[in-house]
Amino acid sequence: MATNTLKFDLKNADGTAKLARVLSMNIQSGDTILLGGPVGAGKTHFARSFIKSLLITDEDVPSPTFTLVQTYETQIGEVWHADLYRLSTEQEIEELGLSDAMTEAVCLIEWPDRLGSYTPTDALSIDINPLSALDERCLTARWSHPKWTAKTKGWQHD
Ligand SMILES: Nc1ncnc2c1ncn2[C@@H]1O[C@H](COP(=O)(O)OP(=O)(O)O)[C@@H](O)[C@H]1O
Ligand SMILES: [Mg+2]
Repeated sequence: MATNTLKFDLKNADGTAKLARVLSMNIQSGDTILLGGPVGAGKTHFARSFIKSLLITDEDVPSPTFTLVQTYETQIGEVWHADLYRLSTEQEIEELGLSDAMTEAVCLIEWPDRLGSYTPTDALSIDINPLSALDERCLTARWSHPKWTAKTKGWQHD
């Protein structure tokens, strides 16, 4: 389904943080970013770097492992950070307010496979996967909605 793909080889955690910060500069309400990849890949690290670059006053950005969602007031409005690993039913997506947030706020969602029928078709999908070197990751971004072509442009001028 996705028609556009970008791939990056990230040498360390700072490389991932930099991509997250650059992307955050072009984001607005209604944009959803799906963060895939195994435990320890760096999904939370990406989301934390993204959110911290938009916060008005610095605060902790903990992993939403148990709360499922954390929300932040930022320079560009509300940002939601979700970790759906422990989601029990799709109905919970409504109850958490996440289905509305995906149209009204900025959402960063870990374990996006749990969204099932709520998966937005206009999202940017980012998959982070470990490589053989300890801190090295392969990041793949995929999208079909044309808005992401402009929003990911900043990545190509590094
Ligand atoms: N290139 C990299 N990108 C992202 N994280 C990295 C990288 N190299 C090392 N790390 C480390 O890997 C860990 C990833 O943890 P986390 O972001 O919580 O993973 P996840 O949310 O995918 O389970 C962090 O401690 C981070 O510092
Ligand atoms: Mg995580």
